[in-house]
Amino acid sequence: MTSLSVIGVPGLPEIAAGADLAGLICAAAPDLRDGDILVVTSKIVSKAEGRVVRGDRERAIDDEAVRVVARRGPTRIVETRHGLVLAAAGVDSSNTAPGTVVLLPEDPDGSARRLRKAVGQRLGVSVGVVVTDTMGRPWRVGQTDTAIGAAGLAPLRDHRGQPDTFGNTLEVTLAAVADEIAAAGDLVKGKTTQVPVAIVRGLAELVTGADGPGAAALIRPAAEDMFRLGAADVLAERRTVRDFTAEPVDAAAVRRAIAAALTAPAPHHSEPWRFAVVESERARTALLDDMLAAWTADLRGDGFTEEQIARRVRRGDVLRRAPLVIVPCLVAEAAHPYPDQRRSAAERTMFVVAIGAAVQNLLVALAVEGLGSCWVSSTLFCPQAAAGALGLPPGWEPMGAVGVGHAATPPRPRPERELERFMLTL
Ligand SMILES: Cc1cc2nc3c(=O)[nH]c(=O)nc-3n(C[C@H](O)[C@H](O)[C@H](O)COP(=O)(O)O)c2cc1C
Repeated sequence: MTSLSVIGVPGLPEIAAGADLAGLICAAAPDLRDGDILVVTSKIVSKAEGRVVRGDRERAIDDEAVRVVARRGPTRIVETRHGLVLAAAGVDSSNTAPGTVVLLPEDPDGSARRLRKAVGQRLGVSVGVVVTDTMGRPWRVGQTDTAIGAAGLAPLRDHRGQPDTFGNTLEVTLAAVADEIAAAGDLVKGKTTQVPVAIVRGLAELVTGADGPGAAALIRPAAEDMFRLGAADVLAERRTVRDFTAEPVDAAAVRRAIAAALTAPAPHHSEPWRFAVVESERARTALLDDMLAAWTADLRGDGFTEEQIARRVRRGDVLRRAPLVIVPCLVAEAAHPYPDQRRSAAERTMFVVAIGAAVQNLLVALAVEGLGSCWVSSTLFCPQAAAGALGLPPGWEPMGAVGVGHAATPPRPRPERELERFMLTL
């Protein structure tokens, strides 16, 4: 039978900047043994490392955060420079002098490595070290401690490929043992009882001679993160992409994005949105060639030279480069008739803005699926040529075209926009 002890280490003094944390821990826990795992609250690591700052908590969170993942009222869940996603960037105003806040250690894996080395030198023992912080979990009430730093410890135990008791091969089981150890330590540590350190004894098989990959190994790579986008990120995720990789577009993702487009608001409870998904190379070539001919004819009519025309039409290449083209269309049959031009035009505008809302939904939903898009005007300037080339049903008015694919390069940063310039508060 495997058994495990989790032992609180009382007797540590209040930690000040520059404190010899390893010395204090060794004095409080002189019977540390080979194979023990020291579980250390990040707060005392931060204090020893001088990561206590005077001033405003919100400002400190701004400085520590690289991305706001979710926000509700004053609560912000953010990603820190370390890649941790947690409330308030781990900035804490508890257990610190009034008017000061404690930041997370600059490099918690580095802190764990230094602590392990110093403890080893002092007591001649080989221990693992876990530096912990308290985090909430999405979908779960309450907080638990997790490992934000680790050294001398395999942070993950990989059961993948092993058979279970029924002989089925385990496919996803990767035990986050560093987090489990952090949570175990929290059972005996206390935020209010001055026990910021615990010893986990009985897991020597997880303690390694080398420092190992640290708790950084527990951070899920962005590309594998199904919940990457917080509510605050979703709209910002959509950017115009003009260069695509050759990777094909998942047809099911496109269908989900079109379903999202159909949730847009529309006048008179109407359903004015249609989407021509141009999958076949033949249909795409017909569309782009006919549009090119129409555009060239327009430019010749404007008096441009052949060289100028060639230069201009090259801009239309984005749709040739995109793995998939979708032509959003407006069906305005539900528009009410009016006897005068003013109201007729207003009615038309209503439907045109409605298709804009649907296309925005489409583009945002594609972005959430990890697909880049570029909505270009093209078909709007040659609606008959486009409708003819695609064989659109009567009443389908093409509203530009959307190139879809995987972005070949990351987008440039968005220009800063001063909110006040776009607002009138009356
Ligand atoms: C109705 C409409 C037509 C557009 N037409 C073109 C176009 O013909 N070619 C193009 O490269 N981008 C086109 N765009 C994309 C804009 O240039 C793009 O949205 C803008 O540069 C802002 O960049 P962002 O979308 O990444 O925020 C169009 C956008 C809209 C809404």
